[in-house]
Amino acid sequence: MATPMDHKRSARLDEAPYTVPVYPQLPFEPVAGEGVYLLDRDGRRILDMYGGHAVASLGYGHPRLTAAICEQAQRLLFQSNVVPLEIRARAAQALAAFAPPGLDRVFLVNSGAEANENALRIACRRSGRGRVIALEGGFHGRSAACSAVTWGAAERWYGFPRMPFDVSFVPRDDPAALGDAMGADVAAVIIEPIQGVAGAVDISHEYLRAARNLSATHGSLLIFDEVQCGVGRSGYPFAADAAGVTPDLLTTAKGLAGGLPAGAVIMTDAIAEELGPGDLGTTFGGGPLACAAIEAVIATIRETHLLENVRRLSARLREECLTGPVTSIQGGGFLLGLRTTRPAAEIRDALLERGILTGTSGDPRILRLLPPLVLEDSHVDQLVNALTEIQP
Ligand SMILES: Cc1ncc(COP(=O)(O)O)c(C=O)c1O
Repeated sequence: MATPMDHKRSARLDEAPYTVPVYPQLPFEPVAGEGVYLLDRDGRRILDMYGGHAVASLGYGHPRLTAAICEQAQRLLFQSNVVPLEIRARAAQALAAFAPPGLDRVFLVNSGAEANENALRIACRRSGRGRVIALEGGFHGRSAACSAVTWGAAERWYGFPRMPFDVSFVPRDDPAALGDAMGADVAAVIIEPIQGVAGAVDISHEYLRAARNLSATHGSLLIFDEVQCGVGRSGYPFAADAAGVTPDLLTTAKGLAGGLPAGAVIMTDAIAEELGPGDLGTTFGGGPLACAAIEAVIATIRETHLLENVRRLSARLREECLTGPVTSIQGGGFLLGLRTTRPAAEIRDALLERGILTGTSGDPRILRLLPPLVLEDSHVDQLVNALTEIQP
């Protein structure tokens, strides 16, 4: 059987000549993973506090997730939505039960952008309205509709000649500005309850409640984009639960299947009942492999009390990471933004030299932590010790 060290012995093939140069990459290559550690080509163990952009919810090589994927791959790798599948029923049932009360129906897709694209489509089509309100700082994905509601995309990388609908951006945490922007032409208000790419900016619960009320008053749908902050990362099943606010549509992806591509639009019965054959569609979404992984991820979060783990260790991180170059900490659960005295990229590099992987964000002074939900106390100690060593 091949071992991680075989990679070291074999000549390394570089991906750059064959791929498109759109990603700045870090200077190490992981070849294996175990728990919350990555093993790189040189045999270095790296503590992963970034989780592959929040995807590795159960870390690496999790026995239950790995077994579920392997068993499903051997039994039935793929069938589309043209046939019913019990594993799809089980995944959808588990996800609906995990979602905030009142969101009982699930449309399974492959990614965060696909989830948001479908949520926005549902909102526009259902209402016949042509404007969407989004928040400054928000990131919702790279498809046409998702990038239309992503703050700053139009100036930097949108690329299409026009938007699919009108968009009004409003400042975060300003209910009066949201009230002023609302109107009879607004199909939806889309909000990340904790803005991930912006640097783990937590939107206040009061604001989320105001958005709920204003959307209801104006007949607009409220969409929570929990692609990054959902599926336990906030320390609650969804950040909506922490705020006690139920949106009309909730989108999620990233950690949902622990590493396999999967996303979902979770909605009320009323919205689902208005949809019929052909209104939405996808080939790979709801495939058996992803569904087996979704079922395993949700069952593991529930049965091994990972929400409690996230809340407890998040409190430790928030308190103890205020050391070295860190001056303040924002965000929630395991989606934390550490404000740094120097550019966050410098701190990320200094941590990587000490064997710890972290991420940057849209804010050059915010370092982002998105560790697997299976993090342990010793990993927090390791990060805190490393931060303490770094010059402010
Ligand atoms: C909040 C949020 N929404 C949507 C997306 C897009 O997800 P994907 O890259 O899976 O399309 C992301 C990705 O970072 C995200 O953070």
